[in-house]
Amino acid sequence: MRRIIAPSMLSADFGNLDRDTRMIDRSAAQWVHIDVMDGVFVPNISFGFPVMKPIRQATTKTLDVHLMITDPVRYVARFVEAGADYVTFHYEATDDCRACIDAIHRAGARAGISIKPATAAEVLEELLPEVEMVLVMSVEPGFGGQSFIPSSIDKIRTLAEMKRRMGLDTLIEVDGGISAANARELFDAGAEALVAGSAVFHAADPESEIVRMLNA
Ligand code: DX5
Ligand code: ZN
Repeated sequence: MRRIIAPSMLSADFGNLDRDTRMIDRSAAQWVHIDVMDGVFVPNISFGFPVMKPIRQATTKTLDVHLMITDPVRYVARFVEAGADYVTFHYEATDDCRACIDAIHRAGARAGISIKPATAAEVLEELLPEVEMVLVMSVEPGFGGQSFIPSSIDKIRTLAEMKRRMGLDTLIEVDGGISAANARELFDAGAEALVAGSAVFHAADPESEIVRMLNA
């Protein structure tokens, strides 16, 4: 099983975005997680294309873009143009998940679909063969620094079992409240990509924290 760490730039120092992105680029983390919020789908606004540009310029790592926006189909192609390798949208944010997946694929990126804590893993059953990744939110989307919701572990297990049954190798990513303290449990449940914002950027030594998570 793969073990991928995706530090979330939401917790980076935006006054030193270039420095912080280069630190992740040097680190053992394989991906860079980018949280885009529109103030409608979630009660917060983060950043958009102009902020993605310096991140893309400062790293060659996989850009994992997490869209917390309403009607994501309108913008997915622009995120791919801005350098996204994975574009993940929310199941709850659109009436037409398939159109959104198709738009991401047509634009040349890998597609991910995410569920909020109140959404059951089972809703993804029919869509699982169509996407490269599913993202389980283990906090309410919108803010960094929240506590991990323990029931997320069961969702990871359900999705891992669904994948096995269907013979798929869809990546399972988890996002919210993750650190070296719970990374092992998540990998064991079947998660392969772990997002971490505050645990990485607020650590005394972010690069060591990433290694600790990878070796958890
Ligand atoms: C929250 C974002 C997360 C956030 C995680 O809506 O999707 O990616 O940055 O932050 P931590 O790791 O601090 O919970
Ligand atoms: Zn995220």
